[in-house]
Amino acid sequence: MTLGQKQNNSPETNDPTSEEVPENALNERKGKYDPRNKLNDLTSSEWIPETISVWNQKGLGAKHPDVKIEKQHPAPFSFTDVARLIRFFTKRGNVVLDPFVGIGSTLKACALEGRRGIGIELNPNYAKLARERIETEVESFESVEDQTVLEGDSRTIIDQLDDNSLDFIVTSPPYWNILHKEDHKVKQERKAHNLDTKYSDNEVDLGNIDDYNTFLDELTAIFAKCVRPLKPKKYMAIVVSDFRDKSKYIMFHADLARKLEPLGLEMRGLKVLYQRHKRIFPYGYPYAYVPNIHNQYILILQNAKN
Ligand SMILES: C[S@@+](CC[C@H](N)C(=O)[O-])C[C@H]1O[C@@H](n2cnc3c(N)ncnc32)[C@H](O)[C@@H]1O
Repeated sequence: MTLGQKQNNSPETNDPTSEEVPENALNERKGKYDPRNKLNDLTSSEWIPETISVWNQKGLGAKHPDVKIEKQHPAPFSFTDVARLIRFFTKRGNVVLDPFVGIGSTLKACALEGRRGIGIELNPNYAKLARERIETEVESFESVEDQTVLEGDSRTIIDQLDDNSLDFIVTSPPYWNILHKEDHKVKQERKAHNLDTKYSDNEVDLGNIDDYNTFLDELTAIFAKCVRPLKPKKYMAIVVSDFRDKSKYIMFHADLARKLEPLGLEMRGLKVLYQRHKRIFPYGYPYAYVPNIHNQYILILQNAKN
């Protein structure tokens, strides 16, 4: 990275793929860039560690000035993790879609990495915050101009994208209606600070569907629409978490992966994103095993169409 993140706080600021790195400094990059590499701009030494199946989630930390917008959303992902995926699955100048863009973490990562991002968001307030976020948190005017926020329902907006126009899709969808269910301290604290505890009251919001199987079908239908605009053999990364519904453990990552396979979105790998910063609650103690779920999964899928 980077085309210029405001304030130098991200661990990615040393990314050697940045255009800002002087020509001679590029010689200091470890490993060789293989001209046969059609996937990304990484050298061999940069590529290989990224294939490890466990990553530590990296956020900015609660005190960083840039978390002001981030914390307005109940479930953002870390733009630094997304930037890492974007650097692996795309080249500079490529086009990236996030069909559930929230407050624009994917677009911020695209702007910092010199990629062209398209984000779709249903909630007009989050769409507005996403635009504000890239304008205030990214310095380079050119890379901000390359980011587009489309407001509305992904079900209809994806249909407006051109065939084979996307190089990569990365997203984190609603995890069923768990924001309605969670009732622990974190939610109480958000309420006390007048922050959103769910995405919206809109009936087309996937986070408002009551039945789990209906939710899975609706989500699958949106990813099915993504196959046409995604170029053949290109990748999709979906960040999800398993969750509990009362005492039942729901393997959302596995349920979703199984629904996507018949669409030609074939599993190529699963990353565990370890959320070390999460607080531990004494769920179940002293009667039963109830997990503190401190990881997300990143489903890595490839568009099998020719
Ligand atoms: C897990 S959040 C994504 C957060 C995002 N990764 C970020 O860092 O801000 C899921 C988002 O999907 C949006 N959403 C729900 N249903 C939608 C739909 N039908 N079309 C578009 N967006 C939708 C919600 O408003 C919410 O912001």
